Amino acid sequence: MQILGIDIGGSGIKGRLVDVQSGDLIGERHRIATPQPATPPAVAAVVDELVRHFNYSGPIGVTFPAIVRHGVTLSAANVDPSWIGAQAQQIFEQATGQPVHVLNDADAAGVAEMTFGAGRGFTQGIAILLTFGTGIGSAIFHDGKLLPNTEFGHVPLPMKGIHAEHYCSDRVRRLQDLKWPEWAKRVDHYLALMELLFSPDVFIIGGGVSKKFDKFAPHLRRPVRIVQAQLMNEAGIVGAAMSAWKQREAATDSSQLVSAV
Ligand code: BGC
Repeated sequence: MQILGIDIGGSGIKGRLVDVQSGDLIGERHRIATPQPATPPAVAAVVDELVRHFNYSGPIGVTFPAIVRHGVTLSAANVDPSWIGAQAQQIFEQATGQPVHVLNDADAAGVAEMTFGAGRGFTQGIAILLTFGTGIGSAIFHDGKLLPNTEFGHVPLPMKGIHAEHYCSDRVRRLQDLKWPEWAKRVDHYLALMELLFSPDVFIIGGGVSKKFDKFAPHLRRPVRIVQAQLMNEAGIVGAAMSAWKQREAATDSSQLVSAV
């Protein structure tokens, strides 16, 4: 079963077909620069352009870097403020004429990593995926089940009085020109807080910086197992497509149940 996954980011909006049973990526990825300002109508037009590019019809999974509840975007830390309260699912469905499932970008990456990547087979205990990029995204799984929209990047760090993503995102590393050991020390503080709150069995480190895992991981001192995400840039697309597919299957099952009654 091939489903279109779309990953909305601050600089690019990327689409690719995904075989949702195997997690394999099909064909080429297509990327369009994120329009500026990235308002809902402007972004929806790009999503539609991607759907046309792939000449696709069927369920579409879309990631968004914000809280997404029941298809509505509820925050806008690193995106245009007009997304707060936007009916994202409805907007994308109207633009494309296809059924759309919208979810948080880190949740999508987590779903993909837990199924096909670093968390594969991890069905017992607590796993936390953290994506370090412009912001910090998070996804927490208990016995393989996602608790969505955790937004751990906005946890205030008690000793610093600022949100975690303003202290140790990859963006902060680059802006402040932090050396790997310095940055890793900051990440350690943050992981210590996450450990105190959730006692995870494993941290999966994703996002753009995960490509440089070898540079910073040796400087991390936390006792909990820390592993590198495996699906890299494509995790969001894969997780979005999988979530859209699962959503569709669940809707079909329940409508069959209703018609059987
Ligand atoms: C947003 C999250 C998002 C993360 C990574 C944060 O600023 O609040 O929703 O998952 O960035 O993109």
